[in-house]
Amino acid sequence: MTFEEFEPEGALDPLRDPAERDVESTLRPRDLHEFVGQPKVREQLELVLQGAMRRGAPPDHVLLSGPPGLGKTSLAMIIAAELGASLRITSGPALERAGDLAAMLSNLVEGDVLFIDEIHRMARPAEEMLYLAMEDFRVDVVVGKGPGATSIPLDIAPFTLVGATTRSGALTGPLRDRFGFTGHMEFYNADELELIIRRSAKILGVDLREDGGREIAGRSRGTPRIANRLLRRVRDFAEVRADGAVTRDVARAALAVYDVDELGLDRLDRAVLGALVKSFGGGPVGVSTLAVAVGEEPTTVEEVCEPYLVRAGMLARTPRGRVATATAWLHLGLQPPAKAPGEATRTLFDDAGD
Ligand SMILES: Nc1ncnc2c1ncn2[C@@H]1O[C@H](COP(=O)(O)OP(=O)(O)O)[C@@H](O)[C@H]1O
Ligand SMILES: [Mg+2]
Repeated sequence: MTFEEFEPEGALDPLRDPAERDVESTLRPRDLHEFVGQPKVREQLELVLQGAMRRGAPPDHVLLSGPPGLGKTSLAMIIAAELGASLRITSGPALERAGDLAAMLSNLVEGDVLFIDEIHRMARPAEEMLYLAMEDFRVDVVVGKGPGATSIPLDIAPFTLVGATTRSGALTGPLRDRFGFTGHMEFYNADELELIIRRSAKILGVDLREDGGREIAGRSRGTPRIANRLLRRVRDFAEVRADGAVTRDVARAALAVYDVDELGLDRLDRAVLGALVKSFGGGPVGVSTLAVAVGEEPTTVEEVCEPYLVRAGMLARTPRGRVATATAWLHLGLQPPAKAPGEATRTLFDDAGD
């Protein structure tokens, strides 16, 4: 079974369409050098991996955190590849019972990399079993029920856990503490996205012109998965309505058809901003109320929409709720009220009480 068949389509990752699996796997960077951007995470990880290889021992457990589509799964695969280790894949939601995890752990071979996607969604008993496994390479398998139950310790092969999460805040302290290294994935800048788009165009055989790549990069919401997706949509447009070349004008016309605005905000982003501004006067409003207003799960609004809206300086998270910034009002073509928090750069650090 290939990795792609295993990957969960969690509700937390609505940005990904299952039909994209094949193309995503052809576009995935294969090693750290092909992995564009994230200079900090890359450098730190390189040290962790090289240090371990020198010592001839499996590296410390690695946690990768960040919004969907920024390359967590790709990095997990790269870690295994760099180590020359095999990768075992599962996900938090698949580990409903401790037994599910015990089965997975006892099948590991020394040096394997175990990837747990959406690790914050793992059931509690599995999580507790994982503590011991991470620390001592041991699991306690409970046999029987009630007062007669006994626990049998079982050694497992030394392995490296790579966990990915869109919500590191949802991890319990003890679990977080057992990772030797946490990589915080950031949104990509336009230059990095342009490199990614150019590489993808080459692989897919798209006739991408320089200004076309730039245009798509600027509207990719800081996210490689979206950049690759927009490239394919623009290619369709270029082939059907133009001569196949992806120029800036073709990209603009195509993205207008697909409802991607100049900042790359998608329909849900705009719905959230629209509700915040029009129904709640710009806030503050709680995230669950906001989610109901746009007909989405609060976790989706929180983990998918908000990180980018905050980073774009349109939304501020305060203890009293979410607040639209002046930039958000202006982006929607509306006059901001006097109470709206100031310019884009300030809102990133704004707190209630300010
Ligand atoms: N740093 C990167 N360089 C090049 N392509 C990337 C990078 N990060 C992500 N991608 C592309 O975006 C797609 C989604 O990345 P993925 O690793 O699945 O993200 P996540 O697991 O964080 O949701 C990949 O298939 C890959 O093509
Ligand atoms: Mg992933």
